Parts: sequence; structure tokens; C-alpha cells
Amino acid sequence: MDYYNSGACNETTLALNKSAFLKLRIKPRMLRDVSRLDTTTRVLGKSVPLPIGVSPTAMQRLACPEGEIANIKAVTSTGSIYILSTLSTTSIEDVAAAAPNTTKWFQLYIYKDRDITRNLVKRAEKAGFQAVVLTVDAAVFGKRYADCKNKFSLPPHLELANLRGIAPSNFTGSDGSGLQSYVNSLFDSTLTWEDVKWLQGITKLPVILKGILTAEDALIAADLGIPAIIVSNHGGRQLDTCPASIEALPEIAKAVGNRCELYLDGGIRYGTDIFKALALGAKMVFVGRPAVWGLSCAGEDGVKKVLKILTEEFEQAMALSGCTSISDIRKDMIVHEDEYAK
Ligand code: FNR
Repeated sequence: MDYYNSGACNETTLALNKSAFLKLRIKPRMLRDVSRLDTTTRVLGKSVPLPIGVSPTAMQRLACPEGEIANIKAVTSTGSIYILSTLSTTSIEDVAAAAPNTTKWFQLYIYKDRDITRNLVKRAEKAGFQAVVLTVDAAVFGKRYADCKNKFSLPPHLELANLRGIAPSNFTGSDGSGLQSYVNSLFDSTLTWEDVKWLQGITKLPVILKGILTAEDALIAADLGIPAIIVSNHGGRQLDTCPASIEALPEIAKAVGNRCELYLDGGIRYGTDIFKALALGAKMVFVGRPAVWGLSCAGEDGVKKVLKILTEEFEQAMALSGCTSISDIRKDMIVHEDEYAK
């Protein structure tokens, strides 16, 4: 459980991801006939019925025996989007076979050995994944003290299923977090924007960047033709004291306008959080830990329940603020609490 819960260092950003939402107020409008609500959003040219997807989280079979398969099946029931981690405990092919019709994106970590990376991307393409989500905030591994203290290891009955036969597919923590040692020895910390171009050159899939937190980087991404960005701080697990995702979103939205689609993850726990993220420029939100907690409690049914609660709360936020469609949810409906204090 420590592995799922923890954030980096003092866990300031981990806490901020949630508390920053509480500083935002929704200004509701009344008397607008909200008897029919439409939660459909458009993502990469496709209609998606619900703007709530599941973020990539590593090693989901630590949470329940069916792991990634239980998680994606729950997402299938909503028609939304599932992002599979490079470090999954179920392979790309097995996840695709379990959910052939679900919109699936593949989250990529770039290994120093580019043949490994190319292999992963080609397999995701072949298996029907529709985008590659390159995580850009993990050039080195965030210091998660709980994992260090626990000497976090992958139990021997599990493996990093995508790496079987092509790279080390297990890790043990003899001296601190085994995952930290794995990442720091195998992932490429030399990454630059040139590597983003390299990735764009080896795949026909859209390349989405996950982990952008500034307008400056979002503009570079837009200039490279990146179609979408996930505004994210990795759930507070990488650079501690960096901004909450929801704090970073407005400046990025202002900078890129319609040049890139924006999605957000980090700290989404209530339907009103989803409403606020959409109002401030996101087309979609993703949840990491809430889905893992659902998995830990009751597998596929647990994730379904989490998604149902979030959906109901989001619909209630829409109705009670006078919005009947996603396009009704507008920036001027959100006010920071400091504005009220003036
Ligand atoms: C993650 N995250 C993550 N991100 C990524 O790009 N690849 C990965 O393998 C993982 N693994 C991972 C494991 C666990 C246990 C957690 C909690 C997170 C980050 C994840 O995709 C997402 O950015 C955050 O989880 C979003 O924050 P919330 O929803 O957990 O608050």
C-alpha cells in the first residue's frame, strides 16, 4: 500500500494536488433546465462518452490478481480511455486481448537501449493501442521514502510482463527501493526534445506528452506537432514542491490555446474536481490512485464503483451549476478563493 500511496520526499505536491482544488470555487448558474445532461467529450478526433479515464500506474497485479485486466474491463464499461504503463504486470498483448474494443493508450518510458523502446512501441501499435503517452517527468526516479524504507521489491510470482525476454523484468530492493534502482539503471536520463522527435519518427501513432507543467514546455510541444499533453506531476511522485496539476493548467491552456488538447491528472477525487479541470481547459481527466484503490478493494467491480461515484458526482456538479454539456463548463465559472478575500 505504501507504494501506491506515497509521493516524493516530504509529499508536499502530493497533498497540494488535492488541496489546490479546494481553493477553487464554482459559480453556479440557476434555472437552466438540466434535466438532460451530455458528458460527451472529444479526444484526438474521437467522441468519448465520459471525460474520466484511467492513468497509467505500474504493477497493478500488486493490487489484485487480475490487475491491469480488471482495471481496463472497468474502463470498458464506461466507454472511456485506459492508459497502460510500460511497467505493467500484464503484457501489452494480454491487455489488448482482454479489451479489444476499448480505447487504449500505451504509456512509454524510454530505455537507454533503444531496441527495447522500439520493441514496446511496435507491439503497442500492433496490439491496437491508439496513442503513445511519453512520460517526460521521470528522467530520474523521484525519491519515495516509504519505498526506500520498505526496500520495495516485486514479489517473485509477478513480473514486468512487457519486458519479459528483452530486459530485466523483476527487481529486488536490497539497498533501498528496488524500483528506484531499476529505473535509474535502465531508463534514459539523457532525454531531450530530440528524443521526442525520434519517437515521433518511429511510430505512426500520435505521441502525447505526460508530465508537462509549464507554458514554455507546452509551447515547445505544440511547435513539434504534439497533439495532446497530460498536465501532470506524476501524482506528486517526482519533483516535490512543484505545482499541483490544477495550478499549472491555466497558464498552459492560455499559452497553447487550441494548438494541443490538454488533459489533466493528479488529485482528482470528487466530481467537482473534474468540473474545475474541464473549466480551466482540460478536455479529459485521468485518475491514478482512485482506480488502484478500487482494484485493491474489489478488483474490476471496485474500479467500476470508483468510476460510478466520480461520474455521478460530476453529473451532479454539472446539473447544480447549470451546465448540460461539456462546452457549457467555462473558465469564468471558476474563482480562486483569494478573489473572494479581496
Ligand atoms: C503512477 N504514475 C505513473 N505514471 C506513469 O507515467 N507511468 C507509470 O508507470 C506510473 N506508475 C504509477 C504508479 C503508482 C502507484 C501511482 C500512484 C502513480 C503516475 C500516474 O500516471 C498519475 O500521473 C498519477 O497517479 C495521478 O495522480 P492521482 O490520480 O494518483 O492523484
